[in-house]
Formats: sequence, C-alpha cells, structure tokens
Amino acid sequence: MGIEYRIPTDADWPAMVRADGRAFGEVPTEAQIAERRSTVDLDRFRIAVDDSQIVGVAGSFAFDVTLPGGATAPAAGVTWVGVTATHRRRGIVTELMRLVHQDADDRGEPIAMLFASEGGIYERFGYGIASTMRFVEIDRTTARLRPDLPVDRDAVRYVEGDDARDHLAAVWEGHRRTRAGEISRDPAWHDFVHELRERAADGSSATFHLAHRDGYAAYRIRSKWTGRPMNTLELVEFVPVTAQAHLDLWHTILGVDLVATVASRNLPPDEALPMLLTDVRPFATTVAKDGFWANVLDPGVAFGARTYGTADRLVVEVDGVRWAVESDGDESSCRRVRTRPDLVTDGSSMGALLFGGVRPSTLEHGRRLTARTDDVLRRADAMFVVGPAPHCSTWF
Ligand SMILES: CC(C)(COP(=O)(O)OP(=O)(O)OC[C@H]1O[C@@H](n2cnc3c(N)ncnc32)[C@H](O)[C@@H]1OP(=O)(O)O)[C@@H](O)C(=O)NCCC(=O)NCCS
Repeated sequence: MGIEYRIPTDADWPAMVRADGRAFGEVPTEAQIAERRSTVDLDRFRIAVDDSQIVGVAGSFAFDVTLPGGATAPAAGVTWVGVTATHRRRGIVTELMRLVHQDADDRGEPIAMLFASEGGIYERFGYGIASTMRFVEIDRTTARLRPDLPVDRDAVRYVEGDDARDHLAAVWEGHRRTRAGEISRDPAWHDFVHELRERAADGSSATFHLAHRDGYAAYRIRSKWTGRPMNTLELVEFVPVTAQAHLDLWHTILGVDLVATVASRNLPPDEALPMLLTDVRPFATTVAKDGFWANVLDPGVAFGARTYGTADRLVVEVDGVRWAVESDGDESSCRRVRTRPDLVTDGSSMGALLFGGVRPSTLEHGRRLTARTDDVLRRADAMFVVGPAPHCSTWF
C-alpha cells in the first residue's frame, strides 16, 4: 500500500508528537505530549501514514504578520516539518508542503513563513530568506553605557507569575506592529510559553521578567563560578517599544551583578546598543545567519498591503507572471499586468522584496534579480526598503 496523506485527529495526537520527536531527535514525555496539544489546530496539519504508522508531519500556525509600514496580513507559520529517517527522500515532505500550502491558500492567507533547520531545504518550496538573525555576546565586565544618556532609574521593575504573563502580552500587542516580520501571539501561545519559562531549562534558571511601562525583557541565568562569578545572562526576549524603554532596559540588564556575559539569539539586526556604549567592542555578533523565510503565496494581496519608501510604480515579473507594484505615497496596490517588466526575479526572492530586508540591488548582485536599467534598480532600492530591519522574535 502507498502512503496515505490526511488531516490528523485527536486520536493521532500522541503518535504525531512522537513522529515529530523522531525527526528532530527528541523523545517527548507524556506531560509534553499533553501540554503541546493546546498550541496546535489539527485542521491545519497534515500527516503521512504508512501501514498505520505516522512517518511524516507538517502543519502551520495561524497568525498576523506585520508588513513594512505597520499593516498586517494573515500568514501561515509553517512548523513541525519532519519525516522519519526510515522514509526520507521519497518525496513525502514535498507532498506535505504542497498540502499545507494548499490549506493556507484555501484559508486566504497570502504569506507562508518558517524558520529552517537547514538552509538547503526550502527554496525549492518557494521560500527565500526574509530577515537576518544574529547571535550576540556582550562582555558585561567592560560594556559601559555612555554617561550622558538620560536613563530613568525608576522605570524598570521585576514582575512574576501572572503579572509577568499579562504585562508581556499587553506590551507585545503594541510592539508587534512596529517592525515588519513580527507576528501576533494568541492567548494559548502566551500561556504555553509562560509555563515553559517558569521552569529551569538546559542548566539555566527559570526566567526573570523585567517590566517597563513601554517594554520588557526576559532572561535566564546560567551559573558559572570559577573562583569568581562568571554567570551568563541569556536574554530570552528583549522587547522595547520606545527608545526610552530600550535605554532603561539595557541599563538594568547591563547592571545585573555576577554576570560576565550577556548572550542573545533574538536581537534584530539593527539593534542600536553598540551606539549607546562608550566602546563598541564589548558587543560582538558571533553568528549572522538566515532568520525567517517567507513564501509569497499571493503577491497581489501581500504587496498591496504594505507601504513603500517612495511614490512609484514598478512591474515585477516572477516566474513568468507580471505584477505592477504601485504606491502614491499613501495607498498601495499590486495587480497583474502584461506590460514590460522593470524587474525580473524568482519566487523565492519575493519574500525578501516583500519584507524589505534585502535591497533589490543586493538581489541583483546575487544573480537573483535583473533590472531593466541601473536607474530602475536605484528606484527599486528606494521603494522596497523602508522602516526598521525585518525581524521575527517569535520562534515557531
Ligand atoms: C528535511 C526533511 C523534512 C526532508 O523530508 P523528505 O521527505 O526526505 O524530503 P523529500 O523526499 O520530499 O525531498 C524533497 C527534495 O528536497 C531535498 N532535500 C530533502 N532534505 C534536504 C536537506 N536536508 N537538505 C537539502 N536538500 C534536501 C531532496 O533531496 C529532494 O530533492 P529533489 O526534489 O531534487 O529530489 C527530513 O529529512 C527531516 O525530517 N529532517 C529532520 C527534521 C528537519 O530538519 N525538518 C525541517 C524542519 S525546518
């Protein structure tokens, strides 16, 4: 018998979590199997079944993603993509991705997004890198904020338990619209993540929450005593909505005693802390890599919803289809046309153009895009790149 592809039921749930665990090298406990259930909508998942055993899983979360300029669009956050080792390289994930994209399309979601375990998998499915992720290490023993900065020393307080959960959820709603790539988080997500953060993990403490009226920071401490304190402060999340919150939160974080290193895997590429320091060198980017990947399922809706840096009109041809992207400085639109293209690109580069994290001229240098003239390329850079660098601080 061949492989059967279908929507999982509640009865499939434990086996589905175990199959996903096998693909990622984890053995879930009964408690983990139970607590993860609230985070997924099974109707958005597809499983591959061979002789009654689940051998492949893929699905998506529903959320709104912020586009350049602050408008949001519904998106499918593709997740749980895994095929067990016994069944790899038989086209199972290809079929699962087709079904998950079909589901997103049927639901009217113009964008699919994901974080990739490996860089070689997803381009064939229409995804391109839409943001840069960086890992940072700050030598706290030498990092000093410039003395002239107007720090409000009364603005930050520790919060715990439900107060922390509620503060994070409220601040997140304001924050997510300030940067392209950030996504909405539903109450089940806040509850699930809060529960996980209440526990110690991988040798680090449970999470401490710093609240500011316009932001928050969450961190764990990894203890290390080698005759002198050498703790690492692992910054789980850093969410300042205003420049003042940004400064006040960094002031508190850099003041946590017994910490030698502040480490983060979740700061946006344009994080401004180095400029606030008397010496930039204590702030080191240790890894710069692909962040979230995007697949533009419906260019007309997605490009018509974002704003642009200039009032202009450029025709973009992607995989033989031409789209006129137009902005009058206020309203935007994206419609299918037959006229001569200004830019020609491939489907996987559309995510970079949509979120504005890569300049069209960089795509051109990378042989991912051609422009009719040099002037068109300059206009494209000015039109598509606007606002803060795209970043998605929510792992899914
Ligand atoms: C990655 C994974 C899902 C691929 O599943 P699969 O069913 O073997 O994939 P398919 O057989 O449908 O392969 C489709 C194509 O992708 C290629 N491919 C698959 N995995 C790849 C990888 N890790 N790197 C590069 N190419 C890959 C295949 O060679 C095939 O290419 P082709 O169409 O030119 O022949 C599977 O290997 C897996 O579960 N890995 C561990 C978990 C994981 O990393 N999941 C991704 C989470 S983001």
